[in-house]
Amino acid sequence: MRGWMVAGNWKMNNMVSEAVNLSKSVKEGTEGIKGGEVVLSPPFTALHAVYETIKGSHVTLAAQNMFYEEKGAYTGEVSAAMIKDIGCTYVIIGHSERRKYFGETDEWVNLKAKKSLAVGLKPIICVGETDDERGKGVTEFVVGIQVKKALNGIDNMGNIVIAYEPVWAIGTGKNATPAEAEDVHRFIRNILGDMYGDACKNVKILYGGSVTHQNISDLIEMEDIDGALVGGASLKSEEFVGIIRKVSEKR
Ligand code: PGA
Repeated sequence: MRGWMVAGNWKMNNMVSEAVNLSKSVKEGTEGIKGGEVVLSPPFTALHAVYETIKGSHVTLAAQNMFYEEKGAYTGEVSAAMIKDIGCTYVIIGHSERRKYFGETDEWVNLKAKKSLAVGLKPIICVGETDDERGKGVTEFVVGIQVKKALNGIDNMGNIVIAYEPVWAIGTGKNATPAEAEDVHRFIRNILGDMYGDACKNVKILYGGSVTHQNISDLIEMEDIDGALVGGASLKSEEFVGIIRKVSEKR
């Protein structure tokens, strides 16, 4: 039983007071929900306040990024241990916005994934092809390399979540069809099977890219889609709670 997960990636949004209000209403709106995990990923500045709001509840916390070094002269960076210390269970790694705007490479994604696991944080590793790559028919080639490089040298998948987020679907309102998403999810699951055998059968693979409470119903019907990483729609509590409810009903 893999269970489900819905994670809200708030990106660079929400002041502390807004973050507290939003996390409170998500917590209250999803009380009693079973069989899965609700995760919130506020910006660094709101992690502490959101942690205080959700602690002891069914909602858990994720950071949106981390640096792979332990400590020292890395101005502006935050370590895995710091993120764990502030109350995070998860950390998002390799989001396409980080790859695009901050030059994050597959090698960095791998170093970050290893470091997060070393301190007991669970990485949500993001992969996905661009519009151009899909147009050229190299989606599997690109995603395959991203997955294999991210997991290089990692021998236990137990604490890892993968998020398949086609870059062309992020923030565009143009989501992948359930069949398109399922094809890539199955492809990723097969790669994991080749690398880890039965040991990866509980790994969750989330879909991300313009998820709404309307399109989630059909996506979550797919066998290899275990939930969603939600950006824009996670900023409105009613919408986000609606997504979580639909996922929990169908899984
Ligand atoms: P979106 O973002 O739902 O706004 O498309 C998803 C993500 O970037 O994780």
